Amino acid sequence: MLIKLENANLKYMEGTPFEAVAIEDVSFELRKGEAIGIIGPTGSGKSSLGQVLTALIQPDAGILTIDDKKVGAELQTGNVYKHVSFLFQKPEAQLFEANVFDEVAFGPRNLGLTEAKVEDSVKEALAIVDLDFKAYSRRSPFNLSGGEMRRVGIASVLALKSKAFVMDEPTAGLDAQSRRRIISFLKSLKGKDTSLVLISHDIDEVLEVCDSLIVLNEGRIVLKTAVKDVLKHASFMKGLGLNLPENYALASKLIDCGWAIKSLTKDSLMQALEKRMSG
Ligand SMILES: Nc1ncnc2c1ncn2[C@@H]1O[C@H](COP(=O)(O)OP(=O)(O)OP(=O)(O)O)[C@@H](O)[C@H]1O
Ligand SMILES: [Mg+2]
Repeated sequence: MLIKLENANLKYMEGTPFEAVAIEDVSFELRKGEAIGIIGPTGSGKSSLGQVLTALIQPDAGILTIDDKKVGAELQTGNVYKHVSFLFQKPEAQLFEANVFDEVAFGPRNLGLTEAKVEDSVKEALAIVDLDFKAYSRRSPFNLSGGEMRRVGIASVLALKSKAFVMDEPTAGLDAQSRRRIISFLKSLKGKDTSLVLISHDIDEVLEVCDSLIVLNEGRIVLKTAVKDVLKHASFMKGLGLNLPENYALASKLIDCGWAIKSLTKDSLMQALEKRMSG
C-alpha cells in the first residue's frame, strides 16, 4: 500500500471558541497506480485530509503509513516528500525563489539530483504546464500573471517526479487550454504507475482522471464509489449540493443502448456523438 491512513481525527484550534473539526475518523488507502478523487462541499475537510495524507499536518489521532512504513516511526515526517508530494490549493502563495528556474528546481535539488538532472526535470515540468523554458526560466515568479504563477507552482511539484501526488484543486481558475494539458498529464500518470489523489470541485474532471472517488462531508467520508458506479449515488450527492452533470445520465442511457462510450464524461460523450454523426 502506498498511502494508508487509519482512523484519523483532526481539529483546528481545539479548546478555543474557534475550534473546527477538519476530519473525523477518516481511513483511506491508495494503491500503486491508482487514482482516487476527493470531492465534497466547501469546508468539508478535503485540503486538511490532503495534508494529513502527505504528513504536512499531524492528525490528533490516527496512523499514517507510507510505502508500508509508519510515519513518525519507520519513516521520518521530513522525508515523506521523497515518496509523496502535495500540491497546495493555491500553490502560487508558496512561491519564494528569485526566478522560475530556481523555484521549480527547489524540490529536485533537495532530492540531491545532479544539476544536469535538475535541469531536465525543470524543463519537463515546465513543458507539462505549457510554460516555455527560455521565455520563463529567468523571470521572477512574482511578476507573472495569476495563472502563470499557478502553473509554476504546479511545475515545482511535478518536478519531484514522486511515486504519488496529492493535488488540491490543481486546475481551479486556469484557462481551458492549461486545464486540458494538466488533465491529460494526470491521465498519463496511470501508464507510469504513479498514484494520484485528486481533490477537485469539478466532478467531470474527477470522473475523467480517477478510478474511484470519495465524498467528504463535515470531515467524514460519507461515500466511496467506483467512478463507473457514480450515477447510482446521484441523488445522495445532490443532497450534499454535489450535482452530477446532466450529460452523465444521457451518456449512461446511451451506453445501455449499446453505444461505445468510454466514460460518462462530457468529452467521451462528444467524441461518441461526433463519430456517429460523421459515420
Ligand atoms: N488553519 C486553520 N485553522 C482553523 N480552522 C481551519 C484551518 N484550515 C481549515 N480550517 C477549518 O477546517 C475545516 C475544513 O477545512 P478544509 O480547508 O480542509 O476544507 P476544504 O474541504 O478543503 O474546503 P474548500 O473546498 O473550501 O477548499 C473548515 O471548517 C475550515 O474552516
Ligand atoms: Mg480546500
